[in-house]
Amino acid sequence: MLIRSVRQGDAQRWAMLRHKLWPTVDPDELTAEAESFLKGSTTPTIASAFLAEEGATPVGLIELAVRSFSDGCESMPVPHVEGWYVEPPLRGQGVRRALMQSAEHWARERGFSELASDTEIDNHRSLAAHTSCGFIEVERLIKLRKPLA
Ligand SMILES: CC(C)(COP(=O)(O)OP(=O)(O)OC[C@H]1O[C@@H](n2cnc3c(N)ncnc32)[C@H](O)[C@@H]1OP(=O)(O)O)[C@@H](O)C(=O)NCCC(=O)NCCS
Repeated sequence: MLIRSVRQGDAQRWAMLRHKLWPTVDPDELTAEAESFLKGSTTPTIASAFLAEEGATPVGLIELAVRSFSDGCESMPVPHVEGWYVEPPLRGQGVRRALMQSAEHWARERGFSELASDTEIDNHRSLAAHTSCGFIEVERLIKLRKPLA
């Protein structure tokens, strides 16, 4: 198992995993965002991304954005885990931890002192995966919107 930063030529393979993580998002949008990052454009949602590979096959990803703040964190700005995904057959085997360690290393090297993340309230496996990687639950929120017609 190899964990590495995304690089030129990864857009399609990376986007395929992104689509598995975010199946309701337009796949073209996910690919365009990946391509844009790989071309060096600043994107508000991706500051860094790593793939886990088994042979030449990508089997997991982690993506970080640097947010201006994140609820419950002590530092600003703060790197936020925007996406964390491991292919189902490889879950429970430590891939998640290796991906998170790469993200932590990236953040430490840039002088950040903590990572932020979030998860849906009923995603018990994700919450357990976070806490087993050292995350501490700090808050529970209800998000709301009001369309302004
Ligand atoms: C989140 C994810 C990356 C975690 O990776 P993983 O390899 O599945 O992690 P594990 O199977 O080792 O599970 C992590 C912990 O949850 C526990 N767990 C497994 N299934 C569980 C369940 N249904 N409910 C509660 N805990 C569960 C495991 O025992 C483990 O705890 P431990 O380390 O204390 O033993 C992976 O499950 C995934 O890709 N999920 C879909 C995408 C997602 O939800 N991403 C997170 C939000 S972006």
